[in-house]
Amino acid sequence: MSLNHEPALDATEQDPSTDPPQAVDERVIRPLQAGELVLLVDQKQRRYVVQLSTDGEFQTHAGSLPHGELIGRPEGAAVASTRGQRFTVYRPTLSDFILTMPRGAQVIYPKDIGPILMLADIGPGVRVFESGVGSGALSMAMLRAGADIVGYELREDFAARATKNVGSFLGDAALSRYQVELRDSYEGIDDHDFDRVVLDIPEPWRVIPHVPEALRPGGLFVSYSPSITQVIKVTDELRRVGFGEISTTEVLNRTWHVEGQSVRPDHRMVAHTGFLTRARLTR
Ligand SMILES: C[S@@+](CC[C@H](N)C(=O)[O-])C[C@H]1O[C@@H](n2cnc3c(N)ncnc32)[C@H](O)[C@@H]1O
Repeated sequence: MSLNHEPALDATEQDPSTDPPQAVDERVIRPLQAGELVLLVDQKQRRYVVQLSTDGEFQTHAGSLPHGELIGRPEGAAVASTRGQRFTVYRPTLSDFILTMPRGAQVIYPKDIGPILMLADIGPGVRVFESGVGSGALSMAMLRAGADIVGYELREDFAARATKNVGSFLGDAALSRYQVELRDSYEGIDDHDFDRVVLDIPEPWRVIPHVPEALRPGGLFVSYSPSITQVIKVTDELRRVGFGEISTTEVLNRTWHVEGQSVRPDHRMVAHTGFLTRARLTR
């Protein structure tokens, strides 16, 4: 995905009187309105997420774009900055938002988040224990799939950032299914009867001894780790405490250039991000 990682405007500084658009029925075709998040894509495919306000302006190196030019327009409309730079405007997808949202900790990228949802079999009503929550990227995807999350996070600023990101994109209603606690998950998991445990922390093997008490039999465990030495420790510990069905996957995502006679893999790809280790609790 050729998403640009230039800092976006802080799309989470929302007008509290306005519901985010994602809380609204997606099937209804509505013109863009003040308070909504929009995605602007320029001619070089650079992407920016911006929150519309009646007197706001999007500033670029090629002039400014008054938000008033966007409010009332349909998605997919073409607009131009004061110096003729052309943009197409859309409502952002979750992937757009994750790649441009304000971050505390490093996020898990959409290429891994999608597979994690399947590996952990996340769906409506599933109770998830997550640690750490970081910037809330993975939390957002699991909440949108309908999960209820208890998250342990060490850092107060990251917990606040994750909560703010969730509210900005999914709306405040999603926060009722998102309980973030300032806790060290290496020290234990207080709650029980979770259906899933999903970890993205430096030493996940230190949480695994606590998982059999917290997870229901047959429950799924998924851990994301950048390094294979972490995976080895996780796998050894999963075996030791009685997990079965243990597997590790790496997701490689290669895009293609398709234009006329020039059809080939893109020269650049994000090759390695992390390993996904999945297991099920036996009794
Ligand atoms: C890489 S970030 C998680 C990113 C997150 N998965 C996302 O997609 O936005 C790792 C997080 O784990 C937290 N963390 C590290 N050790 C922890 C521990 N023992 N207990 C709870 N949180 C921890 C860090 O503060 C950090 O926010």
